[in-house]
Amino acid sequence: MAKIRLGLIGAGGMANSVHYPSLAEFEDVEMAALCDLDEQKLRATAEKFGIERTYTDYRKMLAEVDPQAVYILMPPHHLFDLALTCLQQKRHLFIEKPPGVTREQTRNLALTAEKNGCLTMVGFNRRFIPLIREVRQRVDEHGPMLQCVATFYKNSIGAGPYYGGAIDILTCDAIHAVDMLRYMGGEPVSVAADVRALHTTYDNSFNALLRFENGCTGVLLTNWVVGKRVHTFEMHAKGISAFVNGDTRAEIYTNNQEAGEVLDSRAVAGSDSTHRFYGFYGENRHFIDCLQENRLPETHFGDAVKTMELVERIYRSQI
Ligand SMILES: NC(=O)c1ccc[n+]([C@@H]2O[C@H](COP(=O)([O-])OP(=O)(O)OC[C@H]3O[C@@H](n4cnc5c(N)ncnc54)[C@H](O)[C@@H]3O)[C@@H](O)[C@H]2O)c1
Repeated sequence: MAKIRLGLIGAGGMANSVHYPSLAEFEDVEMAALCDLDEQKLRATAEKFGIERTYTDYRKMLAEVDPQAVYILMPPHHLFDLALTCLQQKRHLFIEKPPGVTREQTRNLALTAEKNGCLTMVGFNRRFIPLIREVRQRVDEHGPMLQCVATFYKNSIGAGPYYGGAIDILTCDAIHAVDMLRYMGGEPVSVAADVRALHTTYDNSFNALLRFENGCTGVLLTNWVVGKRVHTFEMHAKGISAFVNGDTRAEIYTNNQEAGEVLDSRAVAGSDSTHRFYGFYGENRHFIDCLQENRLPETHFGDAVKTMELVERIYRSQI
């Protein structure tokens, strides 16, 4: 299979810890060039992954390397201009979540991608956690989802708003739970929300009750000033209930049997490495497979617009 030539923008945390380790394992990609403004990070990351061509100017990298696809792994409030440039040059594009600071940014990127025939993907990695895929399949075997829950708790007391306040917590980070509600329940028809600023000057708790098109009920529970990071999901269908923590394990109960089945997240993924069991390897593989097969990734920009719309709707639908 022909190798996909990639241009990589960003030599930060996510690039080094999960995305480039995943790409480095693929035989059908060429990590052709790397760009970062920080020369120290640029050198260290290029050395670590054996990337020969390095740049501090992404436009120069695009012009000289002519990559088929680009990864942009950098803070959301600096993302838009780079992403738009790549799409206008007809380059396929992978970005981390969130896909912009506002729904309008995401919508315009999605329209530009469509106009230019670009395949795009947003790194909503929770959908690609092998344990979550496995549980979802088992629940689906019992018929349509009746009820689903996504929780995301953190203890960020004293941390301040993200990037000094450039973006809100729901759009930037709790969006993982919002996107998972769409993954589990489908498209929402009605939403009632409770958004609160607890012990801070900015919103840090986002809760909602949703009804989906297929009749499924969804619940969102997130809070950034509580005990510790806990990020869980529930999926229920007729005669089956699954309680899932992608970091650790899932418990599945069927037909009133007292002893549930326990699935270990690492065992299902066949690996102890975070980039493998927490969905990053899977999302990167999905993107490259889609490029090889010329099909739209599951979390393409058009799909991400719907998640951004739900984020916006949560703010607008407060009780
Ligand atoms: N999926 C997840 O679970 C998850 C977890 C953490 C972060 N993220 C997302 O990943 C993205 C990146 O986060 P991170 O923690 O890796 O950030 P980071 O700050 O560690 O790295 C970003 C890098 O981008 C570089 N950069 C900034 N502007 C640039 C430009 N114009 N040209 C070239 N390089 C530039 C910076 O120098 C930096 O090295 C964010 O959108 C964040 O929301 C996702």
